[in-house]
Amino acid sequence: MLYKQIEGTDLTVSRIALGCMRIADMQVDALETLVDKALSLGINFFDHADIYGGGKSEELFGEVLKKRPELREKMIIQTKCGICKGYYDFSKEHILESVENSLERLQCGYIDVLLLHRPDALMDPKEVAEAFHELQASGKVRYFGVSNMNAYQIERLQKYFKGKLLFNQLQFNVVHSGMIDSGFHVNMKDQEAIDRDGMLLDYCQLHDITIQPWSIVQASWEEGCFLDHPNYVSLNQKLEELSKTYGISKAAVSVAWILRHPAQMQPIAGTTSIKHLEDLCTACDVEMRREDWYALYLSTEKVLP
Ligand SMILES: NC(=O)c1ccc[n+]([C@@H]2O[C@H](COP(=O)([O-])OP(=O)(O)OC[C@H]3O[C@@H](n4cnc5c(N)ncnc54)[C@H](OP(=O)(O)O)[C@@H]3O)[C@@H](O)[C@H]2O)c1
Repeated sequence: MLYKQIEGTDLTVSRIALGCMRIADMQVDALETLVDKALSLGINFFDHADIYGGGKSEELFGEVLKKRPELREKMIIQTKCGICKGYYDFSKEHILESVENSLERLQCGYIDVLLLHRPDALMDPKEVAEAFHELQASGKVRYFGVSNMNAYQIERLQKYFKGKLLFNQLQFNVVHSGMIDSGFHVNMKDQEAIDRDGMLLDYCQLHDITIQPWSIVQASWEEGCFLDHPNYVSLNQKLEELSKTYGISKAAVSVAWILRHPAQMQPIAGTTSIKHLEDLCTACDVEMRREDWYALYLSTEKVLP
């Protein structure tokens, strides 16, 4: 496992985190085995959200912690709030209430990192900052970040929040690579030149905000996993070739591609399979050559100007 020290904090996070969005249907014993496996692989970072499984994911994880309280100190637990049924809510009242509920479900006294899940058009950054300051002062949340936000949304929040927003969780993989595409096509007249995200990748690197890619082997919600998917034949051929070159699986090559970026991103693995998790972690054992990194990118039918 590779690790990253988050500047200005006491957090040393594993470069691969375990995402808990899909654990809601697991049995507690099976989840306990998955958590043990994750820890033995060196994963110390667990990503939740109040809405995963309608609260069931946090609840199950809490069952594991209740049974094995000694595990808590080995973990960095992150959760998110702000998505409600049919609307987003970054009001102080909602943030505070959501954290109370997460703490109760997770059966632990504090959350290491709280993220705002998706931008709320009605957000008042002063109000958010008040909530964050209160949560930090009470010791209920140690650190904060955002998810799916662009640079100016982060700037607005940061204007009032006295701490530093440390993470931005974003959809990113070799197929869903808009953050990189626009960087290549600066000042060109083609479609790829359109910067939809406000130089997000550059902004996060400039401000030491760790990007946490989500859906690392998934093309999109509609298409699902791109591995062996008929819509991604040339990508899969290249993955196969690189799999032989590096002696790791196609899934692991996809993660190695993310890890190779100098932004030192922290991919969130959403698998609930022990076999897949073990396999993904082998991505940490290789450093992809520059030529291979570009070749994999271009195998998704993107072009360089
Ligand atoms: N901030 C946000 O808005 C947001 C949105 C979505 C997700 N997330 C976070 O990101 C995490 C990951 O998201 P995700 O689950 O959509 O993405 P993912 O890690 O790309 O996993 C997607 C699916 O790929 C499957 N898969 C098939 N073959 C695989 C292989 N060889 N190796 C690994 N996985 C394989 C997994 O199923 P198996 O279980 O069978 O391996 C899983 O169901 C979530 O748990 C959540 O914590 C955040």
